[in-house]
Amino acid sequence: MTDQPAITVDGHAIPLLGFGTWMLEPDDARRMVAEALRIGYRHIDTAWLYRNEAAVGDGIRDAVQAGHVRREDVWLTTKVWVDHFQRDALLRQTRESVANLGFTPDLLLLHWPKAEPSFEETLGALNEAQAEGLTRAIGVSNFPSAEFRQAQALSPARLITNQVEYHPYLKLSKLKAAARELGSSITAWSPLAQGKIADEETLIQIGRIHGKTPGQVTLRWLIQQDVVAIPRTAKVSRAEENFDIFDFILTPEEMDRIHALATPDGRIGDWIDPAFQWDQEWG
Ligand SMILES: NC(=O)c1ccc[n+]([C@@H]2O[C@H](COP(=O)([O-])OP(=O)(O)OC[C@H]3O[C@@H](n4cnc5c(N)ncnc54)[C@H](OP(=O)(O)O)[C@@H]3O)[C@@H](O)[C@H]2O)c1
Repeated sequence: MTDQPAITVDGHAIPLLGFGTWMLEPDDARRMVAEALRIGYRHIDTAWLYRNEAAVGDGIRDAVQAGHVRREDVWLTTKVWVDHFQRDALLRQTRESVANLGFTPDLLLLHWPKAEPSFEETLGALNEAQAEGLTRAIGVSNFPSAEFRQAQALSPARLITNQVEYHPYLKLSKLKAAARELGSSITAWSPLAQGKIADEETLIQIGRIHGKTPGQVTLRWLIQQDVVAIPRTAKVSRAEENFDIFDFILTPEEMDRIHALATPDGRIGDWIDPAFQWDQEWG
């Protein structure tokens, strides 16, 4: 599908670097998706909730028409919002997402875990969506380890990724181990900690050694762990910067220095259902 570094899960090659579109208004989403594909990105992340699926689809079509890419070379992910987790609603939203995008997504994720309806119902419906050809693969997002394991136990099809917040300020040992055990993968959202990495002295220092920015060092740190990273930007120059991470390698010592930036309160976006708890990584 692509000659870029990818992680292969259950026969699907997911490009390790993707482009995120949360908060991008439709005009920016269309423009930036087309630019990202021109630059060389081959993985685009959206969600029904972002209200930009149609613009993302248009951006992909613009890039195809301009001859920058073929549809089959782009990995496209979208997500089912939590209000649509009952069987019929899930299938309805998925058809709507396919219509919005104008493409069958490669990957459909449950956006956040939810206690009601039951995991049985939601995972059953997600599998139905895949069996109906509404998506090529399925997965989850924001599932702690215990719920990730439960979801996989209820899903005949492999859940090929768990998309969660991950950046240098968070520790994710337990979830990475769970993903390995389950034969799945981790995708990092807010991989740049929403821009906070830019002023981080450790990342600036490591960047100086390699002639790279803190953002590039951070994205390299993620993909060197075989974690998929989906940075977002509304600026073409930043999209170019974030893509320029395939010509240097962080040493094991540099990787460890970045891991050491994690703190117990490093989480930025916490909208987890109170029925669930994040993995306890500290103490
Ligand atoms: N599954 C989920 O629940 C979930 C939740 C959140 C996000 N996501 C996905 O993950 C994607 C990425 O996460 P995110 O958008 O929260 O945050 P992010 O990618 O960590 O950070 C984006 C912010 O960082 C800035 N930025 C971009 N490149 C930079 C660089 N090289 N140096 C410094 N700053 C930089 C951007 O500003 P400019 O635009 O000004 O460049 C933007 O404000 C989302 O777009 C979405 O697709 C998923």
